[in-house]
Amino acid sequence: MKALGMTIVAALIAAGAAAHSFASPDQAMVAPATVPAPAGLDGRGLFLKHCGYCHLPGGTGSIQLERRWGKARALLAERTDLPAEYVKGVARQGIFSMPPITRVEVTDDELDKLAAYLATADKTKAHGR
Ligand code: HEC
Repeated sequence: MKALGMTIVAALIAAGAAAHSFASPDQAMVAPATVPAPAGLDGRGLFLKHCGYCHLPGGTGSIQLERRWGKARALLAERTDLPAEYVKGVARQGIFSMPPITRVEVTDDELDKLAAYLATADKTKAHGR
């Protein structure tokens, strides 16, 4: 009987400790990093999803860029002159008629991937190969 009592007390203490550590601010800050992030889209997929409706052929971004700078600058996915830092700056601040893209829409990690994709000089990327 005594042993059973001790077991119950030990179980209650363990439960209390678990509840406490779960609720502590330290745990709360560590927890998200231990949850594996979903695989998600690659840079090209992110570009198509978040920028494509303006920056694929016929989109307002493509039309506006062609009007302003000429055909060679119209399609972002065919450009070889877009440093990643420039792409990220434009995305976060917007430019003329392009609205800023918030971190809610595209996280910093996603924007890193997306900008790296646009900075690549590989022409085949525009055709999805
Ligand atoms: C709502 C439409 C829209 C969306 C969505 C959009 N853009 Fe744009 N973007 C534009 C327009 C319009 C311009 C041209 C602005 C101007 O010159 O008037 C532009 C211009 C740019 C430029 C400047 C290119 C240059 O030659 O200087 C970059 C870079 C760019 N966009 C990147 C992006 C990226 C990356 C995304 C997705 C995260 C994105 N845009 C999403 C409309 C959009």
